Amino acid sequence: MIERARLLFAGRIEFLKSAPALHFLPDPEVPEIAFAGRSNVGKSSLLNALTGRKSIARTSVTPGRTQELNFFEVGDPTLLRLVDMPGYGFAKAPPKVVEQWRKLVRDFLRGRVVLKRALLLIDARHGIKDVDSEMMKMLDEAAVGYRVVLTKADKIKASELDQVYTETLAAARKRTAAYPEVLVTSSEKKMGIEDLRAAVLADSEI
Ligand code: GTP
Ligand code: MG
Repeated sequence: MIERARLLFAGRIEFLKSAPALHFLPDPEVPEIAFAGRSNVGKSSLLNALTGRKSIARTSVTPGRTQELNFFEVGDPTLLRLVDMPGYGFAKAPPKVVEQWRKLVRDFLRGRVVLKRALLLIDARHGIKDVDSEMMKMLDEAAVGYRVVLTKADKIKASELDQVYTETLAAARKRTAAYPEVLVTSSEKKMGIEDLRAAVLADSEI
């Protein structure tokens, strides 16, 4: 599985399109895996690490940079798509933007038949916050299975990481739609990337 995943992600990966609203979605032709998480948690960075490209997904220091659903195609012919979802929970977001985000994300999660799994990214420095619990609730309610993925593991000490990992795993196990395992990653140090690739491949059922 690891070797197959490595080969898949070493092959064709292309940005397909950006969808600011549901009617811009690409046709549901292949399995999709979505990346969800707070703004600045490292979604775009993890997508880049997963695909071994430096900047296929735009990363930024400004929270809330990604406001649309961004689709990336993997494989030739396309075997699966990765979806970079807009981040949530940034402090300065106007209520109108939050409402737009909620509608887009909820409708996508509920209606997307090809969506096989979501990856819910949690910053290892902070653990699960209230806004993340709300996201978990949205995923549970939409019946979209998700894996919890800790990001930026390079930023904290091993002992702190152990503690956050244990707490996060316990929280995930209480959720109905959460996969009962937590992946630990660092896009910076390329940690946990092979396991994540294998998980994405397994989840996409290709
Ligand atoms: P939005 O698109 O705004 O929702 O953010 P995002 O979740 O896509 O985050 P992004 O990947 O743009 O990363 C945000 C910041 O965190 C950037 O400055 C990254 O360089 C940094 N970052 C991301 N992953 C890691 C990591 O594994 N380690 C470290 N040290 N920094 C990281
Ligand atoms: Mg982003």
